[in-house]
Amino acid sequence: MKINPQDYIGKAIFITATNTNVGKTFASEVFLKYFAKNGLKVGYFKPIETGVIDNSPLDGLKMFELVKKLNPNFLKLTINDIVPYQFTLPASPYVAKENSKIDIEFLKKKKEYLQKFCDVLIVEGAGGLMVPIEKDFFMIDLIKEFNTKAFLITPSKLGSINDTLLSIEALKNRKIDFDFFINLYLDIDSFDKVSKPFLEDYFKELKFLQDL
Ligand code: GTP
Ligand code: MG
Repeated sequence: MKINPQDYIGKAIFITATNTNVGKTFASEVFLKYFAKNGLKVGYFKPIETGVIDNSPLDGLKMFELVKKLNPNFLKLTINDIVPYQFTLPASPYVAKENSKIDIEFLKKKKEYLQKFCDVLIVEGAGGLMVPIEKDFFMIDLIKEFNTKAFLITPSKLGSINDTLLSIEALKNRKIDFDFFINLYLDIDSFDKVSKPFLEDYFKELKFLQDL
């Protein structure tokens, strides 16, 4: 896999996906371990998590536990630093937050604060690129505000060609620098026959999370 850990020192990477449940948290774990193995101090940030019950953001807590083991600097932080906005309803942030406000400037400052504790900060979005945060502000706009490179996680199941191309169109449209990684997981047995022939012809080189 051609990603050079040294290129990411002092940077944040925004992990997004073609949709919810495609494998952003799984990918975050893969990248955290990959960068840590290569000597980088890693960090994790999930600006907004929904579907949070009993003050336990599942993605945030799982990755926070991992990061504390990989980079003891994160022991000084709390789960509220890692996941500042937590909402109960398992829905888009716009719907889940009801009448409360999400302060984008606050999130930008929080991101910069967390970057002080690590060499590379893995930021996990919620859902896909066009998930609304405010009525006219989407997850893709948060990536732009954060001024980070995006890693787009795409599925291997039937439909992945369409989903991948649509998300890439959106990223190009916003002039967001990105790389994309296929999560070889669903329909793994049929991927080579069903989706890979086009993807390989179109993109020439494919990157798989499982190769990291
Ligand atoms: P949200 O944050 O809820 O939008 O989802 P997500 O994009 O972070 O997806 P997540 O990584 O949570 O993956 C969804 C489910 O599929 C989880 O139960 C994962 O454990 C499982 N999963 C995803 N990718 C893989 C994989 O490559 N291998 C295995 N074993 N499980 C996977
Ligand atoms: Mg997740």
